[in-house]
Parts: sequence; structure tokens; C-alpha cells
Amino acid sequence: MEKRVTVLAGDGIGKEVTDAAVVVLEAVAKKYGHMFRFDHQLVGGAAVDAKNNPLPEETVASCEASDAILLGAVGGPKWDHNPPALRAEQGLLRLRKQFDLFANLRPVKAVSTLIQSSPLKEDIAKDVDMMIVRELTGGVYFGTPSLYNDEEAVDTMPYSRPEIERIVDKAFEIAMKRNKRITSVDKANVLATSRLWRQIVDEKKAQYPEVEVRHQLVDSVAMSIITSPKDFDVILTENMFGDILSDEASVITGSLGLLPSASIRSDGFGMYEPVHGTAPEIAGQNIANPAAAILSAAMMLTYSFDMLEEAQAIEDAVYGTFEDGYFTGDLTKDQPLGTKEWTEKVLQRLQA
Ligand code: NAD
Ligand code: IPM
Ligand code: MN
Repeated sequence: MEKRVTVLAGDGIGKEVTDAAVVVLEAVAKKYGHMFRFDHQLVGGAAVDAKNNPLPEETVASCEASDAILLGAVGGPKWDHNPPALRAEQGLLRLRKQFDLFANLRPVKAVSTLIQSSPLKEDIAKDVDMMIVRELTGGVYFGTPSLYNDEEAVDTMPYSRPEIERIVDKAFEIAMKRNKRITSVDKANVLATSRLWRQIVDEKKAQYPEVEVRHQLVDSVAMSIITSPKDFDVILTENMFGDILSDEASVITGSLGLLPSASIRSDGFGMYEPVHGTAPEIAGQNIANPAAAILSAAMMLTYSFDMLEEAQAIEDAVYGTFEDGYFTGDLTKDQPLGTKEWTEKVLQRLQA
């Protein structure tokens, strides 16, 4: 099969980790007889510097002509004080909105070889396997009015019925393929959007009688994710709660550098991005963990290209490399490998 992929490295460690994902995809293409055509474009701070626009037209055009997008991360101190339209993060938010990538899937899986890197006790962290389904194109990230001046700031959190229904449907579909348990996370004791969210989840559950649905307030979930993470199968939540809970859940696995994500819509097109950011303090040093980006590439094969065997081969190579005792510095202090050297081990496993 031939597929076109727009690669948006972005800022900070974005380039190092997407470089790793691209070489892994190239190895997969060679092994399985595919052709991936990569088109590298600018987004985020790099695009602000070069084109005075965090999402230049050429980037959008390339994404439109592609079958999927692979993104590193955007942002950094250099652009933090820019006016809103010239902030690095705007590039990412506009991409999500423009391509209607409303469903953000963030799997959180603890693997036994990494348990020693988790700050949680082994019996709490082991066997954790959850999927965070985060609404990605609505809520407070995109609400108007939005304003900021020295005297006043406003953010607005809107949600419409269709916006909620489609993400709730997606969560039920995913739950049906997993352990059929959904925890819908909200703040219904305070927020009107959460009360509508709860109502729609309750309406939908009649269509999926096999799925067990529980509502839980977000503050309480923040605690339960750490005290009893095994209780979760699918976590369904709105945009900002999902953002916060996914970084929190990453500590169970051992590192934020392990968590991949898929940002998809209904027709198979998607953007694949690690959950982590640009980690400016470690950028350019060949020490970032590329696993999240590589596993995001595997999600691209699964969700956009229907290449399930190839995706599994990537996952096996990544987890096999951990089993072989090779780790980057976020996971071990004992002779960590660099980004490139660790990726080389993954490639060796893939090519074996
Ligand atoms: P971050 O995710 O960049 O870093 C948080 C911590 O995790 C840091 O200690 C960092 O060193 C570590 N870390 C993250 N990824 C790692 C990896 N692959 N390997 C090893 N360690 C890793 O979050 P932050 O520091 O809050 O944000 C930095 C910048 O990134 C900000 O500008 C923010 O807006 C941006 N950001 C972008 C995205 C994205 O593009 N999707 C996501 C989150 C944050
Ligand atoms: C993420 C990031 C983004 C978000 C930022 C960079 C806009 O934190 O992808 O998790 O908040 O969605
Ligand atoms: Mn985040």
C-alpha cells in the first residue's frame, strides 16, 4: 500500500521523537512491502519563526493531501508571550479544529518490565489497561467570548448536544471492543456542560445494555486514578479534564514519554501525536524517550491505515526492547540509552 503522511515535528523534542517514528515506519514499510511518502512541514513555534503563522497554508495543504498526520509537539518559552494568534499552541489547536479531529484516544497500559520506573507500588500499577477518550474540538479550549487584558480575562466553556453525542458514541464503540466499562468523568455538581454531558451519556447507554456506565466527578477521579487505576477501562471525558487526567495517568506507566495518542474523526483520517509536550529543558540532547511517538505511529497504522499486523510489530518491537533491558533516561538512571541508540534497538528487533 502507498500512503502519504505529513510529518509535523514542531518544537523542542518534537523533531527528535518524530525522526525516530519515521525511521521505524520506514523499516515497517520495507518489511511489509508498503510505501510511506513523508512530507515534512512546519507547525507551532517553528512556523511562527519562519512564516509568522503557527499553522501556515502550506502545512494545511499538505495535511489535506495526506492520509494521516504525524505530529511531535509544539510550544516553548520563546513563544509564550506572543499574542494569542501567534502562540505556538494555536497551530495544534487549529489543526485539531480544522480537521474536525474530535476524538482523542489515549491508551494507558502498564507493562511489567517498566513497573520499577513507576512511582506507584507494584500491586497498584501492574496490569493497568485503560483508554482515555478525550473530546478534542470543543469545550473551554475553543469557546467564545475569550479575552485577556490587564484587568479582566474570560474563557467560555460551551458544549452542544451533537458535539457530546459523537464522542459518547465513540466511547461506547471502543468500550464494546474492550472490557465494556465506561467511567464518564465530569463536574456535574458545578458545571452546566457537565450536566448535559451526563444526560446524554445516560440516554446513549440504553443502546449499549452490555456496557456498564458509571459517572464520577473529576476531582474524585484524579484520586482514584492513583489509588485504584485498575478500576478503569474506558474513561470518557471532555477536552480539558482529559488533558489533565492523561498526564496524571502517565505516571502509572513509568513516564509521560510512553503515552501515544490518536486524534481522529469518523472517516479514518487522523493525527497521531505523543501525549507529552516539547520538554524544552531536554531538547536537542538526544535523551528524550521516543516511545510515545513511535507508538503513536503504530496507532496511525491501526486507526488510519488498517495495518494491524504492522502496528502489532511496532508495539512488539518497542515492548521487546524494554524486555531486553534498554531504557531512556526518563525510565532509568542506570546506563540509559540515548534517543537514537534506543530507536536503533527497536529497529534491530523489527528487522530480526
Ligand atoms: P512536557 O510534556 O513537555 O514535559 C513535562 C515533563 O515530562 C518534563 O519534565 C519533560 O522533560 C518530561 N518529558 C516529556 N516528554 C518526554 C519524553 N518524550 N522523554 C523524556 N521526558 C519527557 O510538558 P510542559 O513542560 O508542561 O510543556 C512544555 C511545552 O510543551 C509547553 O510549551 C506546552 O504548551 C507544550 N506542550 C505541547 C504539547 C503538544 O504539542 N501536544 C503537549 C503538552 C505540552
Ligand atoms: C496536549 C497538550 C495540548 C492540549 C496543548 C499543547 C494545547 O497539552 O495535547 O495534551 O492541551 O491539548
Ligand atoms: Mn496535555
